[in-house]
Amino acid sequence: MITIVAGTNRKNSVTLKVAQYYEKLLNEKGKSCQVLDLAKLPEDFVFSSLYGEQNSRFLKITQQYIFEPSKLIVVTPEYNGSFPGIMKSFIDGWDPRKVSGKWVALAGVSSGRQGNARGMDDLTNIFNYLKINVIPVKPPLSQISTLLNEKGEVSDDGMNDLIQLQLDLLLEK
Ligand SMILES: Cc1cc2nc3c(=O)[nH]c(=O)nc-3n(C[C@H](O)[C@H](O)[C@H](O)COP(=O)(O)O)c2cc1C
Repeated sequence: MITIVAGTNRKNSVTLKVAQYYEKLLNEKGKSCQVLDLAKLPEDFVFSSLYGEQNSRFLKITQQYIFEPSKLIVVTPEYNGSFPGIMKSFIDGWDPRKVSGKWVALAGVSSGRQGNARGMDDLTNIFNYLKINVIPVKPPLSQISTLLNEKGEVSDDGMNDLIQLQLDLLLEK
């Protein structure tokens, strides 16, 4: 089982559409996966689940979507030049001992030209600190309104090649 995290809680985010596109690609490869939309986290989790506080709903989500799978795909939008704060708060609620050694693939989404390249670098540093391995191919999905077609699929051949290479690298781990 692979978890695909849509790394924002903005309702109807484009990031969620990209996460669902990754889900479709994995299904086409015969791989089972599950999507976690951060909009589904308990609304008060920043105050009820971090620093040793116990929130059973948050624990259940982290157990199912983060601790149990050995591989993750994390799709994050670019907000103010990096990944969203809710994603960092979510990570701060993980037990570091339960994520060490996992593999993660990153994708960035932006309306501007950067495709959240900097945010993916920032996430790479954090994940490496947690001893999580990051696949070195990190598709920057920039100018997303022109990149996704009406079916929510990436329409650019070069970008699709990059995504396929990234998925193949993740699946061989
Ligand atoms: C709080 C916020 C900050 C944003 N900052 C940037 C930015 O720094 N660079 C950029 O290209 N787009 C920025 N955007 C636009 C997003 O890239 C755009 O909404 C895109 O669709 C991905 O975000 P989404 O998954 O929330 O839809 C920002 C959007 C929000 C809501």
